[in-house]
Amino acid sequence: MQKILVTGASGFIGSSLVDRLLQEGYDVVAGIRKTSSREYLQDKRIKFIDLPYNRPKELSDILKDENFSTIFHLAGITKAKKQLDFERINFEYTKSLIDSIKGLETKLIFFSSFAACGEGEEINFSPKKVTDPNTPNTGYGKAKLKAEEYLKDNFENYIILRPTGVYGARETDYFVYFQTINNHLEPYLGYVPQRLTFVHIDDLVEVCLLSMKSKIKGKIYFVSDGNVYFDTEFAKITKEVLGKRTIKLKFPLFIVSWISSFMEFLGKIMNRTFTLNKDKYNILKARNWNCDIDNLKEDLGFEPQTDLRKGVEKTIKWYKDEKKLK
Ligand SMILES: NC(=O)c1ccc[n+]([C@@H]2O[C@H](COP(=O)([O-])OP(=O)(O)OC[C@H]3O[C@@H](n4cnc5c(N)ncnc54)[C@H](OP(=O)(O)O)[C@@H]3O)[C@@H](O)[C@H]2O)c1
Repeated sequence: MQKILVTGASGFIGSSLVDRLLQEGYDVVAGIRKTSSREYLQDKRIKFIDLPYNRPKELSDILKDENFSTIFHLAGITKAKKQLDFERINFEYTKSLIDSIKGLETKLIFFSSFAACGEGEEINFSPKKVTDPNTPNTGYGKAKLKAEEYLKDNFENYIILRPTGVYGARETDYFVYFQTINNHLEPYLGYVPQRLTFVHIDDLVEVCLLSMKSKIKGKIYFVSDGNVYFDTEFAKITKEVLGKRTIKLKFPLFIVSWISSFMEFLGKIMNRTFTLNKDKYNILKARNWNCDIDNLKEDLGFEPQTDLRKGVEKTIKWYKDEKKLK
């Protein structure tokens, strides 16, 4: 039986991937920390490992001994107390992992992000392609891009996935938006409509399996459901699924920028991270998050199964079943 490592297994995407790999009968090792939650990692078949990213020799010995056929590297942060944390965790840890598997047969599937290439242009609103120049404008995106580049230069057997906004059961950031609509408020940031892309967790996990099983290597893929949605459409679908009427609230971008700077300042004082911060502002202010997934469909045979309406229905059902939404 093939032995697979999932780093960041305690997280939203990692835990969902672990479930699917177990269903398919793989031998799954979950890379987590001593402090990580095991709420979604209760299956008795899961083995656990705390990887010493800071101790390269030890990390290398462990990975050689385990000889994983595939490693999904998801451990990373999307919000940081200090910008340097993006560099340390999203780049340095990934570099350490890559250095430790050099010379092994292991396939590495690295979770980068749409943020690594930055948002699309706002004249024709064409979708971003993997061949377009990368212009990340967030600390998060810059560190992910640096990790992508190190991987391309130092290892052959890899696939880089750049998911767009991932949502579904267990997710906590879009959940704040669903709660807001559930509370009869419909916020918009800026006056120009935003073009958004999404991928439901089940489709993303399917892409992980296709990437693992494929002989293809050395490629980068955006991952979305293949559609583009205006922010108004996302709100409309959410309202209909929740059965709620709302009051529209439009915030000019300069106010969002002030609030984001204030939240970042507060985060530093309180030594914690908030959903809104300066990095997040750069993502929220961009109007074009459309991406092209033609190469993902052609190379890996990916056929998205869950469009936004179906995905929001499934997701809200989960929040309701879990009593997280009334
Ligand atoms: N969610 C999205 O929309 C999205 C989109 C594009 C790309 N991605 C990427 O996909 C990956 C997973 O995202 P997610 O949404 O599942 O995030 P998540 O729920 O926040 O999970 C992050 C995982 O990384 C681990 N981690 C964080 N800091 C770590 C550290 N210093 N050492 C070791 N492990 C650490 C966390 O462990 P603890 O539980 O111990 O904190 C957790 O298991 C990330 O690399 C993210 O950048 C996510």
